[in-house]
Amino acid sequence: MQTIERIAALREQVRDWRAAGERIGFVPTMGSLHAGHMSLLSAARFRADRVIASVFVNPLQFGPGEDFERYPRTPDDDRLLLEDAGCDLLFLPAVEEIYPQGRQSATTVSVPSLSGILCGQYRPGHFDGVATVVAKLFGIVQPDLAVFGEKDYQQLAIIRRMTADLDIPVEIAGAPTVRSPDGLAMSSRNRYLSDTERALAPRIYATLRAVAARVAGGERDYPALAAWGVSELQAAQMRPDYFELRDAQTLLEPTAGSRELVILTAARLGKARLIDNLRVALR
Ligand code: PAJ
Repeated sequence: MQTIERIAALREQVRDWRAAGERIGFVPTMGSLHAGHMSLLSAARFRADRVIASVFVNPLQFGPGEDFERYPRTPDDDRLLLEDAGCDLLFLPAVEEIYPQGRQSATTVSVPSLSGILCGQYRPGHFDGVATVVAKLFGIVQPDLAVFGEKDYQQLAIIRRMTADLDIPVEIAGAPTVRSPDGLAMSSRNRYLSDTERALAPRIYATLRAVAARVAGGERDYPALAAWGVSELQAAQMRPDYFELRDAQTLLEPTAGSRELVILTAARLGKARLIDNLRVALR
């Protein structure tokens, strides 16, 4: 596996692969890689001839007081995992390579219809930072296909919308959430949990499942179900930002026409802010 830090060198390599008629798959990450990221690599491997991963902790998507400085960085482990996963190229740019003019003067990509709700309400500017860096990475790598995790459900929706609205010729694929055996969604931020907190964290997925089962069983009082979800998480010493049942397609409140719901939550536990979601079909 090659590691490339500069945009120009990356483009040269991609140009060669493209000239040979190869299909390029891309998996953007912020590193501190785990089995969830690896599943995206396998999906890309399966659907493309060459796989590029990027590791870039994007300062633009962290708010003031968030964890940009202490976000876990494990470059040596990441490299080994990517090699094992059959990654062809690791793009590992410095902040100055991506934002040579500094962050303030950067052009911003925004998907206002989806960026202000759910996590966006609690992390102002976060999704503009995500959309901007992903648009830039698409311009740099110019992949045929890019794979994102359904664990970040709102992020995936925003990237799909941005790609469609800007006519970016990249196919977006979603990959299912990878979980620990006890149900906790894998996340780089799980490292922030103490042992006691780690033991409580699976209650998030357990609560999502319980609510999904009640919906599947015919309950339709969504505000009541959401309130119950909040109380369950609070009983497990968490401080939920939100617990919501939404239309899985639009991320808006469910309507009479909704065919599938997604139950989404973000909850603070100790130093970590954990997110998870689960879809449930409506009959
Ligand atoms: P990061 O949190 O590193 O996640 C990179 C990709 O891995 C995202 O598509 C995310 O949804 C996926 N992922 C994380 N945990 C997962 C899990 N347990 N199962 C399946 N997929 C999982 O998301 C970002 O980085 C950044 O916002 C990024 C898109 C790279 C832009 O900076």
